[in-house]
Amino acid sequence: MTVDRGEFVAVVGPTGCGKSTTLTLVSGLEEPTEGDVLVGGEPVSGIAEDVGFVFQQDAVFPWRTVLSNVMAGPRFRGVPKQEARERARQWLTRVGLEAFEDRYPHQLSGGQRKRVSLAATFVNDPKILLMDEPFSALDVQTRALMSDELLDLWSGTGASVVFVTHDLEESIALADKVVVMTAGPATVKEVFEIDLPRPRKVEQVRLQTEFTDIYREIWSSLGEEVRITRERGAGHAA
Ligand SMILES: Nc1ncnc2c1ncn2[C@@H]1O[C@H](COP(=O)(O)OP(=O)(O)OP(=O)(O)O)[C@@H](O)[C@H]1O
Ligand SMILES: [Mg+2]
Repeated sequence: MTVDRGEFVAVVGPTGCGKSTTLTLVSGLEEPTEGDVLVGGEPVSGIAEDVGFVFQQDAVFPWRTVLSNVMAGPRFRGVPKQEARERARQWLTRVGLEAFEDRYPHQLSGGQRKRVSLAATFVNDPKILLMDEPFSALDVQTRALMSDELLDLWSGTGASVVFVTHDLEESIALADKVVVMTAGPATVKEVFEIDLPRPRKVEQVRLQTEFTDIYREIWSSLGEEVRITRERGAGHAA
């Protein structure tokens, strides 16, 4: 699987096939036992600084304010306090949370906390953005809003995105390419190019006939792997 610079790639595959594992290999959090993971042509060694990781769970410091959470990355990377604060404020404005900088995470909604996570990720100017089902805990409307916001924040950064999701609609609405993985241990089964024009609004994209056509096509590929995984599960239970 190859991801080009500035490309948005979504990865779908049955549960347990190895999607999260793939992201941890790219980030350097884990090492492959076989094969190679290359970033910018170089094998991954250790945890790379210019990789941002957004998880399904909130990855914010509960004891820090919103502003302090977003400043944490730049501060950790040695950016002077004043500059870190300014950059954090710019990103908080972009995610619509400028009025909430003194709040603590528990005082925010799930969607707002997710925005803090996005600001805290983008503020580090990542070249690669790894996202593991980042919006799956949100309600449907907030999820659509967040998807639009993500596309908006990402456009112009030049960052490459690898976005893992179980939601095929979400993957098509967001990505340039959808990678379908096989039942575990996963290999790449098929790669689908998504030629829908940008900028996109996810709720509108879903209504286009091209969207339903590509959805059907990808689902026939993915559905088979999901079925294989399910049958294996049933086998274990028996
Ligand atoms: N290529 C592989 N070879 C051997 N084991 C693997 C491989 N890929 C994943 N695994 C193992 O399979 C398990 C599930 O992997 P992982 O969490 O990456 O799945 P996932 O696709 O993210 O599932 P979910 O959709 O439920 O989040 C882990 O214990 C992982 O170590
Ligand atoms: Mg996973």
